[in-house]
Amino acid sequence: MNFTVTQEKIGAVRADCEIVIVINKQLDHKWVHDKKDLETLNFKGTLDEVAFLPHQHRVYTGVDSLERDEVRIAVSNALHAIAKTNYKSVKIASYVKDCPVTNTKAIVEGSKLGTYRFDRYKSEKEPFSIEEMIISLEEYAEKTLNLDPAKIAVKDAETIAEVTNHAKEIVNTPPDDMTPEALAKYAVELANDLDNVSYFIGDQNFLEEQNMGAFLAVSRASTHAPRLIHLTYKPENAKERFVFVGKGLTYDSGGLSLKPSEHMVSMKADKSGAAAAISILEGAARLKVPFEVHAIIGACENMIGGNAYKPDDVLVAKNGKTIEVRNTDAEGRLVLADCLCYATELKPDYLVDLATLTGACVVAVGEYTTGVMGHSSPLKHAIMSAATKSGELTGSLPFNRYLKKLLKSNIADLSNISSSRYGGAITAALFLDNFVEEPYKEKWIHLDIAGPAYVEKDWGYNQAGASGAGVRMCLYWMKDLAYKASQKNHPHKKEK
Ligand code: BES
Ligand code: ZN
Ligand code: ZN
Repeated sequence: MNFTVTQEKIGAVRADCEIVIVINKQLDHKWVHDKKDLETLNFKGTLDEVAFLPHQHRVYTGVDSLERDEVRIAVSNALHAIAKTNYKSVKIASYVKDCPVTNTKAIVEGSKLGTYRFDRYKSEKEPFSIEEMIISLEEYAEKTLNLDPAKIAVKDAETIAEVTNHAKEIVNTPPDDMTPEALAKYAVELANDLDNVSYFIGDQNFLEEQNMGAFLAVSRASTHAPRLIHLTYKPENAKERFVFVGKGLTYDSGGLSLKPSEHMVSMKADKSGAAAAISILEGAARLKVPFEVHAIIGACENMIGGNAYKPDDVLVAKNGKTIEVRNTDAEGRLVLADCLCYATELKPDYLVDLATLTGACVVAVGEYTTGVMGHSSPLKHAIMSAATKSGELTGSLPFNRYLKKLLKSNIADLSNISSSRYGGAITAALFLDNFVEEPYKEKWIHLDIAGPAYVEKDWGYNQAGASGAGVRMCLYWMKDLAYKASQKNHPHKKEK
């Protein structure tokens, strides 16, 4: 779908169909032309209500307020209602309040995220005829004729939604088609397509040279060799260095601590952290953020076999710490342990890991919310407020000294599982903490995306399946920081 912004009044814009947002039951709003029909349909004008009036070529979609995630949901709902028509173009007013950018972005993001389909494996694809969306900025244009900020906003929003959809595509791809080697190939092709992006792919020998005993143990029983994928985006005069580390279990059967069948289904999604890190890097490069950005992926499969690693094994991680394996299904933290050691060697200013790490996180905050953990409150706060703007849900889970003690092992430096059944999302993060060197502890954030990365039913503008969790929050966060940095260079400009 193409997006254009215009200063023409919505009534004057030519399109096959119009989307009208009804704000909190305001059926007397100037853009509501069909009040009687809406009343007949008992359409009130609240969130998640849609009324398509084919004869009028209008689709009404409700919101409780113009809060940006409601706008995303409403636009996505409206497009679903007209998805089976043969309309080629659709128009919508931007509902600008004081800022031309916020809702315009939300409209574009809601459209692109909401119309994503994973239909690669379907013999018959559902058609979607809409090719163009025209956004009228008439209320904004009354004040100024400069549409440039809105045009830039549209481009940025398109990029953010597109790379989020790319993350969904990686995650949704079945495990036999998205093996560690295939993921590495994807990353190499992506790097070749982007400016200022380079790559390094580490194979089994490299992992051995690096003494990544934990990562290697997890991958040992798979017929697919592991890969450490390292992408770097380095623009000229880059400011800070961001390192994103992603859990890339292309399949998690649980290993010898085998998962029960019903929990194994959907474990192709255990590569969601990897998909997010790669897509964040793609977004950073395409948005041209003024930072150096790295994506480090630990890609492998957790399988069973005669050579599988076992409960009772003791592994040696890259930093020399010994780990008693008490459950082979707590494998993500083992892979991440070695990847975090590798990542800290890059001396990051910000270190973020993304992982579908624990079922306990889903129990704690529910399936739509990312668990945010770390030692630095300001950093957690910054990411969480960017997440809210981006439309992602987060909840902070607190560390404490007592939970840390639960990872003690009688025979090694630490155990890969906690001795208590409570607080599993936090104890998993505290395990990772052992692999983040002292100067980087305050720079580190752990995002447990086990819930929102893959939900088997539609929610808002997200389809059943992968959602690209983590991508939008991290890109909004970097954009926020880039904006703040640019304001520092121009102190006469007021902060928005
Ligand atoms: N990949 C899973 C976590 C997961 C669970 C992700 C549900 C998405 C949805 C992880 O490797 C795992 O199996 N964790 C165990 C840890 C336990 C053995 C301490 C879990 O959460 O049960
Ligand atoms: Zn597992
Ligand atoms: Zn896992």
